[in-house]
Formats: sequence, structure tokens, C-alpha cells
Amino acid sequence: MRLAGKTALITGAARGIGRAFAEAYVKEGARVAIADIDIARARATAAEIGRAAVAVELDVTRQDSIDAAISETVAALGRIDILINNAAIFTAAPLVEIDRKDYERVFSINVAGTLFVMQAVARHMIERGGGGRIINMASQAGRRGEALVAVYCASKAAVISLTQSAGLNLIAHGINVNAIAPGVVDGEHWDGVDAFFARYEKKPLGQKKREVGAAVPFGRMGTAADLTGMAIFLATPEADYIVAQTFNVDGGNWMS
Ligand SMILES: NC(=O)c1ccc[n+]([C@@H]2O[C@H](COP(=O)([O-])OP(=O)(O)OC[C@H]3O[C@@H](n4cnc5c(N)ncnc54)[C@H](O)[C@@H]3O)[C@@H](O)[C@H]2O)c1
Repeated sequence: MRLAGKTALITGAARGIGRAFAEAYVKEGARVAIADIDIARARATAAEIGRAAVAVELDVTRQDSIDAAISETVAALGRIDILINNAAIFTAAPLVEIDRKDYERVFSINVAGTLFVMQAVARHMIERGGGGRIINMASQAGRRGEALVAVYCASKAAVISLTQSAGLNLIAHGINVNAIAPGVVDGEHWDGVDAFFARYEKKPLGQKKREVGAAVPFGRMGTAADLTGMAIFLATPEADYIVAQTFNVDGGNWMS
């Protein structure tokens, strides 16, 4: 078990990729906090995972909620060794239709949420000593623009940049900050993405999903399980010398 005795706070872990990370970490011996704005689903997920998981209510857009969630996690698990900054939302629109409120909502969750959860957990890690691991969830969307996805792409480019700056700053405290950039990952999130494309590209529901899956060099869409290996590896001592990097785990969609 590669994470025996470790504790992890995973944001947005009530479902999807965050949930898969929580399950994989528990299998490797860690105890995890399933931190999500959807507390009912976070509780159900934690109950299904078992005694190594606790549910914590967290809205990453509110500083009081971040502070409370960290205190609650430390009270339940004793300390936080690993943070996975996973909570995010998607949006799409042609440039001339982008709504300022939608932009502010996406940036408050995907960018400010990532930054201020990272800051609060880093303060905890520095205070208790002994370093730590922070893994931010970026995206292939952060590697290049997309015609209908300006706001989400920009938010994920910001996550890659924050990972670089935070990584360079926090390694002085023994905290390794890195990121994972998935490609297209099947699940409820992509059902929402598919619905946006159905609207703007006038496609039947499900068609965009089939197209993006067929276009992946590996030959299919990703699954949450395709990402867990990297999330575990980045939390192990084998990744000690890896700092401020973003790793594409996307079946070959992007090379950088
Ligand atoms: N699914 C994909 O194809 C894909 C591709 C690239 C990157 N990603 C990234 O991976 C991560 C996980 O994606 P997913 O597919 O599991 O998404 P998802 O939509 O299934 O899950 C996101 C979770 O975040 C939670 N959340 C939303 N707003 C929140 C807030 N304000 N505070 C706390 N929690 C909040 C939601 O309740 C949900 O449980 C995200 O950062 C996403 O941008 C996903």
C-alpha cells in the first residue's frame, strides 16, 4: 500500500474523478476527506467508501467555508498530507455570448477556489511541518483555446500557471505542487459538456461525446480510473523530485 498512514483532502470528490481518486487513495491505505458543495452526495459517497472516508462540506468560493472544511478535516483525520484541488465547473458559449456572471462564477470556483484552498492547506502543512503534496486538476483545455470554450480554457490555463508559481514557492517548505491535465473523461461532467455542444453545434445529444472519443489517439474517451495512477504516483516519495509540473493523462490528445 503506497499511501499507508497518509491523509488526503479531495475537493469535489462527491462524484466523478474526485470520487475515483478518493477510492483509489483508500485502497492504497490513505484516509480521505470527501469535500464538496453537494454535502448530501459527499456523505453518500463517504458512506459507500467506508470508514477511511469522511464527508466535509466545502464551497471553494467562500473563505469561511474553506477554513471550516480544513479545521473539520484536521479534527477528523489529524492532519492533511495531500490535497487534491479537483472541484471545478464547465461552461461554453460563443465569445459574443459570454455572460459576465458566468465568467465570474467559473473563475471563482476553478481559479480562486484552487488558489485559496491551496493557500489554506499550505498554511496548515507549513505550520505542522514535514512537507506535503498538492495536486491541482488542470485540463487539456488549459493547453490551448477552443472556439466555444474561452472561459473554461482560460480558467484551466490559470490552474497550470498557479501550479508553476505555487510549486516554485512551496517546495522551500517541502510541499510538492503539481497538476494533472486530463483530456476527455466520461462521466456526469461530460454529459454536461455534451449538452453545451449539442446546443451550440446543433448536434443530437451524445454525438459530440462519440466524436471526441473517436478522436483520442488511444481510441476512446478516458475514464476516471485512467487518472488514478498519476494521482497516486504524485503523492508517493517516488515523485519527490517533481515540482511545478502539469502531466497530460489524455490518451495522447496533447503533447507538451
Ligand atoms: N471530465 C472531464 O472530461 C475532465 C477533463 C479535464 C479536466 N477535468 C477536471 O477534472 C476535475 C474533476 O472533473 P469531473 O469530471 O469529476 O467533474 P464533476 O462535475 O463530475 O465533479 C465536480 C465536483 O465538484 C463539485 N463542486 C462544484 N462546485 C463546487 C464548489 N464551489 N465547492 C466545492 N465543490 C464544488 C461538484 O459538486 C462535483 O461533485 C475538474 O477540475 C475538471 O475541470 C475533467
